[in-house]
Amino acid sequence: MKSKVPPNRVPRKPEGQATRGKTAHNRLRRVDNFLLQYDPALLSRSDGLYARAFYVDLGFGAEPMTTLESADRLRRLNPRLPVLGVEIAPERVAKAQPYADALTFFRLGGFNLPLQKWPDGQPETVRLIRAFNVLRQYEESAVAQVYKRLAQYVLPGGLLIEGTSDPFGRIWAANVLRRPSGQEAEIPWQAEALVFSINFRAGFDPGQLQTVLPKNYIHRMVPGEAIYDFFAAWKAAAQETQAYKGWGLRQWFGASAQNLAGRGYSINLRRKWLWQGWLIWRLDRDIK
Ligand SMILES: C[S@@+](CC[C@H](N)C(=O)[O-])C[C@H]1O[C@@H](n2cnc3c(N)ncnc32)[C@H](O)[C@@H]1O
Repeated sequence: MKSKVPPNRVPRKPEGQATRGKTAHNRLRRVDNFLLQYDPALLSRSDGLYARAFYVDLGFGAEPMTTLESADRLRRLNPRLPVLGVEIAPERVAKAQPYADALTFFRLGGFNLPLQKWPDGQPETVRLIRAFNVLRQYEESAVAQVYKRLAQYVLPGGLLIEGTSDPFGRIWAANVLRRPSGQEAEIPWQAEALVFSINFRAGFDPGQLQTVLPKNYIHRMVPGEAIYDFFAAWKAAAQETQAYKGWGLRQWFGASAQNLAGRGYSINLRRKWLWQGWLIWRLDRDIK
């Protein structure tokens, strides 16, 4: 992971290792829908290097359905959005090729993204990387290095959403990291939020979400860790607001979020998020 590959050259050896390729149709639909509402301006931005900046689906899996579905959904907002699916397993890339088109690409690559130059000689750029159900299969100690590597490719103001879902995407949790711009551009990432997503089909229980924590949190559910305290607080909040259950799971979820905010957590309390089952815990801290 030490070699420095300029982002406009195709790296010789993809960094990382092939892991299980399990995926499913619409598994990441709620991730797309979240992004469309979280930062539509980033997805449709077209100034300067953003004009042709990719949406990258890193580790698309045994079949490219999540990449293709995202391309469809996100292009309803930005019809000219270039999408790049990256996989470290060559046979999975080969299987995806028939689905490539003028705006949709599938390439062999790893955490050192396989960026090239456009035919006019301009370097390819990236506005957002989604890495879902990828890092969970690595050691926790790899996470920091991977984040640093990915930061090399994302334009200032761009995002990394890195998380884990259940097999059908009914629940997920994700880190949302932003590439700083301006004076802070030398900092690789600002951790903007830890986001929890439920679609209410399996009820509402904060404990469910512990099972899909991203790699940097999953082994930290022990007393003394911030994530442990967070879940203890959310469970207490859910318990204290149980009366809302009678009104419906969405009302209960929203009331638990209000209660959690009252316990000192910085939670986005806008109805549009809570009603759709997204709890956004704002972190606002630098990741160096
Ligand atoms: C479990 S699948 C997830 C597929 C899809 N993202 C989803 O959530 O349904 C993980 C995929 O990531 C790929 N992968 C693992 N490490 C990678 C890396 N460093 N670069 C690119 N792909 C990687 C694996 O080969 C595997 O196909």
